[in-house]
Amino acid sequence: MGSESLAASRKEDHIRLAREQRSAPIARNDFDDVEFLHHALDGVDVAEVSLQAQVGPWTWSSPLYINGMTGGTGTAGRVNRALAVAARETGVPMASGSVGIALDDPSTAASFRVIREENPDGFVMANIGAGRRAEDARRAVDLLQADALQLHLNAVQETIMPEGDREFSSWMRGLEEVVAGAGVPVVVKEVGFGLSGRTQRRLAEAGVQVADVSGTGGTNFARIESARRTDDVSYLAGFGQSAPCCLLDAPADGPQLLASGGVRTPLDAVRAYALGARAAGVAGPFLTLALDGGEEGAVAGIGAWLTRIRELLALLGARSAADAAGTDVLVRGAVREFAQLRGID
Ligand code: FNR
Repeated sequence: MGSESLAASRKEDHIRLAREQRSAPIARNDFDDVEFLHHALDGVDVAEVSLQAQVGPWTWSSPLYINGMTGGTGTAGRVNRALAVAARETGVPMASGSVGIALDDPSTAASFRVIREENPDGFVMANIGAGRRAEDARRAVDLLQADALQLHLNAVQETIMPEGDREFSSWMRGLEEVVAGAGVPVVVKEVGFGLSGRTQRRLAEAGVQVADVSGTGGTNFARIESARRTDDVSYLAGFGQSAPCCLLDAPADGPQLLASGGVRTPLDAVRAYALGARAAGVAGPFLTLALDGGEEGAVAGIGAWLTRIRELLALLGARSAADAAGTDVLVRGAVREFAQLRGID
């Protein structure tokens, strides 16, 4: 197989294996350790709740977004079309999957371009991997006429991929170059292993204003990449930190945070706001909506998430996602232990 078709078959594997992870009942994860203290008289009217979110230099029309997933194959193009239509109809921001494949093989570009074509006025983020240069970042942004660039840090995933990168020492320098030269603001994200407080601080020092912690507990790329190898490395499935832990680990001088990784329900999104996230990102669950229900399923499903988020904010007495940062939560179990070990109150 040539390197281009290898890249395409990897994208197909990711979609299939990520979908398979959703077939099992929703698993427990660290969001379950974040419990709201219920105050029966604190609620406000649903009509008083604004879903607008201030994220970096932008006002998003919702505190929920479709996180970076795919592109580069026929299936990927259909998923992107369904999600782009849903983004247009519901107003949620949307990120593409890594545009690297289209930079290397322009014949695959249409499967990405559809994200902008279906949603000309929406907030779109183009996604590329660490290790790419500023020139590639600009080409990715151009392809999607993107409002922002998502730069993913996926060292754990690369380590598990037989064909993955083995040279990480230049990533920080490359990141600084991309932040300076992308032409749009850069949102740095993980892909499901978390951004530690120390990483968040380094990102802020590099000029990154917004980072998506994308932690453990949802789509698990250790399992996905393990399934693509002949030898089993699924023992790495527990590697990394969850979004709740990463949010608690945030340094005072870090970037603004978005939360993703294991956001299974609207309640998890609201838990993330309570821990300080400006917005919550969802990948795997929305992939399932698109694969199972196409455009209609994605529009209805994401619309329902927004309705539920609005209702939960009203129940908590929060007039916006930012307002939820002041609500009473109890932190239990593994997340509490993490906070104690890290010396967080
Ligand atoms: C991803 N994710 C991802 N992230 C990224 O930055 N670039 C990418 O190309 C991809 N590709 C990709 C493919 C598929 C099929 C899935 C499901 C996910 C990772 C994604 O953005 C997110 O960080 C993780 O999936 C964790 O979120 P969920 O899935 O638990 O909501």
